[in-house]
Formats: sequence, structure tokens, C-alpha cells
Amino acid sequence: MIVLVGFMGAGKTTVGRLLAAKLGLPFADSDQVLEQHAGRPIPRIFAEDGEPAFRDLEHAVIAGLLAGPDTVLALGGGAASHPVTRSLLGSVPVVYLRVGFAEAMSRVGGDKGRPMLARPNVQSVYEDRQALYASVATITVDTDARLPDEIVLDVLTALDGP
Ligand code: S3P
Repeated sequence: MIVLVGFMGAGKTTVGRLLAAKLGLPFADSDQVLEQHAGRPIPRIFAEDGEPAFRDLEHAVIAGLLAGPDTVLALGGGAASHPVTRSLLGSVPVVYLRVGFAEAMSRVGGDKGRPMLARPNVQSVYEDRQALYASVATITVDTDARLPDEIVLDVLTALDGP
């Protein structure tokens, strides 16, 4: 099991798919699994049930995925804000893909499929989360101005250890 965390636009899905292919593991994305479980897209869940209900469901989905089978697992950008999810992440390798705020916005800004981007305080959400990602990370890789293949190589090197 290898978990990827980071803000929206960090490249968790893109890098996760490439990493999974390199490692011969299946890839899973908590957002996708959650939408399948809920039978609704994320913006509708936010609009109809609210963010707290979304966070509860997200936690349950991630707990299920972490129970196995082994995957390369990309988490939604807000998953690390759930304290019980954070404690579950204590027992697995966690890759934090770090992205600057401006770069994140240039990659995903305006995407209607990501309701958190519509928050007026999105920059403070970003800032508050940096310490949370760092607190669960076993490996941190910077992604600004870098290609997915380069990032995957860094992750593989770090996973191999010193
Ligand atoms: C969210 C990030 C999204 C998704 C949801 C909420 C967030 O995932 O889980 O829209 O709170 O940052 P990505 O990071 O994959 O875009």
C-alpha cells in the first residue's frame, strides 16, 4: 500500500497511476470510489448533503480502501484534515506531493468538479493544510514545474530508502 496526499492539483491521480504501473499494483482514487458508493458526483454531494457529510463518507471510504487489497491510493485533497484518517495513515507509506498555491490554481483553478475551489478562502484552506500533509508524510516530493515522470522517479528512489 502506498498513499498519495496533497492539495488539489498536486498531481496525485496522474502520478499515482504512473507509480502504480511501475510497481505493478492497482491504482485507486478515493474520490472515484466515493462517487461510486454515493452514486452521485462530488459537487452534488457537497450541494445536497454539505461538506461535513462528505468528510464522513470520505473517511469511511478511505478506511475501507486502507484495509486492503494493496493499491497505490490517491486521496482527495481534504482527506488529511480528518483526524481518524490521519491516524490510519500512521501505518502506511505516505507520499506528500507538494505544490505551490499559484501552480495548483493554474492547474485546476475554475474546475467546477471541485467545490472547494469555489470557496472565497481557498488560499487559507491551502495554507492550513500544509502542516497536515507534512504530519502524515513519510516522503515529500516537490511538483512545481516538474513532469509526472520525474516526480515518479523521485518517489521510487525515496521508497527504495537510503
Ligand atoms: C477536495 C479535493 C478533491 C475532492 C473534493 C474535496 C478538497 O480531491 O476530494 O472536491 O477538500 O481539497 P482532489 O484533491 O483529488 O481534487
